[in-house]
Amino acid sequence: MRHRLIDPVKLTALKAEPEPARMRLLHPDEVRVSSIVTATAKAFRFGPRVAPGRAPYEFYPTPPEATRALLSVESFDGAIWEPACGEGHIAKVLETAGHAVVSTDLVDYGFGEGGRDFLAEKAPLARHIVTNPPYGRGLADAFAKYALSLAATTGGKVAMLLNITSLCHPRRHPFYVAHPPTVIYALDECICWPNGDPAQATPTIANQRYCWVVWTPSLPPSGTRFVWISTR
Ligand SMILES: C[S@@+](CC[C@H](N)C(=O)[O-])C[C@H]1O[C@@H](n2cnc3c(N)ncnc32)[C@H](O)[C@@H]1O
Repeated sequence: MRHRLIDPVKLTALKAEPEPARMRLLHPDEVRVSSIVTATAKAFRFGPRVAPGRAPYEFYPTPPEATRALLSVESFDGAIWEPACGEGHIAKVLETAGHAVVSTDLVDYGFGEGGRDFLAEKAPLARHIVTNPPYGRGLADAFAKYALSLAATTGGKVAMLLNITSLCHPRRHPFYVAHPPTVIYALDECICWPNGDPAQATPTIANQRYCWVVWTPSLPPSGTRFVWISTR
């Protein structure tokens, strides 16, 4: 599957990985990253796949019912930024519910504004941030940390759809202790297929379990609530 990409990166922009052997592995006609070497540039330095078998640019769209389930329990007072909007699977549900939504993505899928590396954004584009971020090579961690820093300046919330297993990890433990979510919503059923296509799924994808993790950085931490919600 080919995506229309904006502003293809020049090899010289990726000074972090100068070895010629590695450079040959790049697919410069398919990669679009900021000239600033963010975690994005590092994650996609070999091309659009962070690992063999992964979808290009980590495109695993969110089934609409997962966002509807979030909106059944969580409110957002003000505009929402979907900074990895893909084809708008989350953003469209938010808009249908009456929210003003700013939609951007690294890749141009024909929805929202493509060519925007969230990790290179200089300022928040809306009060709240709601997304299902890219996962591989530390991207989800970088998204969560950066989103929290932006939301701290707006007083808004951050809601991220995450693999629930990822919350229990020695590398992330200090982050969650330092930044306890306000609430975690465990979803009963949710499968994010690669490119939205079940036919492209690896055997493990249907076994993934997801939760919405919601932070309110402007509020003092007061314990994380854990709530079960349903996509049915
Ligand atoms: C798991 S998909 C989710 C798409 C969409 N949020 C949804 O829920 O349907 C991750 C998305 O992150 C985008 N992406 C990857 N790296 C990005 C970056 N650094 N900045 C913005 N978007 C990025 C991909 O193009 C892809 O659309």
